[in-house]
Amino acid sequence: MIKAVYPGSFDPVTNGHIDIIQRGAKIYDEVIVLVAENVSKTPLFSLEERLDMLKEALKDIPNVRIDHFSGLLVEYLKKIDVKIIIRGLRAVSDFEYEFQQALTNKKLYPECETVFLVSDLKYTFLSSSMVKEIAKFGGCIKGLVPDYVAKKLYEKFNIEMENEDR
Ligand code: COA
Repeated sequence: MIKAVYPGSFDPVTNGHIDIIQRGAKIYDEVIVLVAENVSKTPLFSLEERLDMLKEALKDIPNVRIDHFSGLLVEYLKKIDVKIIIRGLRAVSDFEYEFQQALTNKKLYPECETVFLVSDLKYTFLSSSMVKEIAKFGGCIKGLVPDYVAKKLYEKFNIEMENEDR
């Protein structure tokens, strides 16, 4: 049984993440979606809220498990005995950062491998920050995040969802 870990902040999960997870789940026997800590970010949603949104978004994919960890990603991999990290590549601009992360993880845990899935063209521009910014100003985020996540975002920013397009 080959397992892989897909780590991220997921603040919140977007349709771009879900696309990568769905495709990863077709390649590996199990994909563990890991809410990990990015020390350079202060999340909008609590850990519990992010886990809840992921649970709802991924409920129809049987071979996906959701977990969380505070600490180095490689320590989590060792703990659960998984050697594959899935990452999504959206644009050339992602490459340098991803390259650095993959090499750092390899240095810390030589047995691990980072596998890159190229993002679907329609999500190459997407990021959690962009979705948060649009929602904060009451813009339309339909098609960018699941409806459940959109509801949570508008609630967070105290924005009425009377418009069907939102
Ligand atoms: N579709 C849409 N958006 C995507 C995406 C996709 N396929 N892939 C990434 N993104 C977005 C993310 O939502 C994120 O948006 P944001 O910056 O607005 O929040 C952005 O692109 C960057 O994503 P990512 O590089 O995955 O950052 P992250 O903060 O989500 O995750 C961790 C980074 C948590 C994986 C990393 O910090 C980590 O491994 N932490 C653990 C500690 C550790 O081991 N550190 C050393 C690592 S070398």
